[in-house]
Amino acid sequence: MEIGIRCLKGDFMKINKKVEEALNEQINKELFSSYLYLSIAANFRGKNLHGFAHWMEVQSNEELEHAMKIYHYIYERGGEVTLEKLDKPKTKWDTCEEALNEAYEHEKFVTKSIEDLVKLSREENDYATENMLQWFIKEQVEEEASTEELLIKLRMVGEKGNGLYMLDKELSNRKE
Ligand code: FEO
Repeated sequence: MEIGIRCLKGDFMKINKKVEEALNEQINKELFSSYLYLSIAANFRGKNLHGFAHWMEVQSNEELEHAMKIYHYIYERGGEVTLEKLDKPKTKWDTCEEALNEAYEHEKFVTKSIEDLVKLSREENDYATENMLQWFIKEQVEEEASTEELLIKLRMVGEKGNGLYMLDKELSNRKE
């Protein structure tokens, strides 16, 4: 009997269509997050805030990694990735606080989306996906916290002067 890769995956582990579709939508959200944070980074570069820009570029790369994590997972489960078009992100923010606040609100939106995915995988008795999503649940706690912390620090130092200069310098040390 010929045993192909598809066969070895076993139909019982094959991802169901509803979950596959929702994970594909999540890939789009993660890619959009990457695009939005790159746009915020570009805005910071334009303001000569290179530390802030670097911090956001690292964040943008992380979002791309999130998308790829789901991308590979779908194939591990015998599903298929379908990429859709990305929305155009906003490109101008008058203040740093506005830009960081947008990032923070966006993280909260992504958290809600991950929680909805967990609910769906439970409803569909897809325990493997629910288990995979636990990594994202933990990641979202960290991402919301780090973005909020940065927003709070910025509010403490304000939008100009020595405080902003020092904060920008601190942010340039963020590791990938
Ligand atoms: Fe991947 Fe920050 O959400």
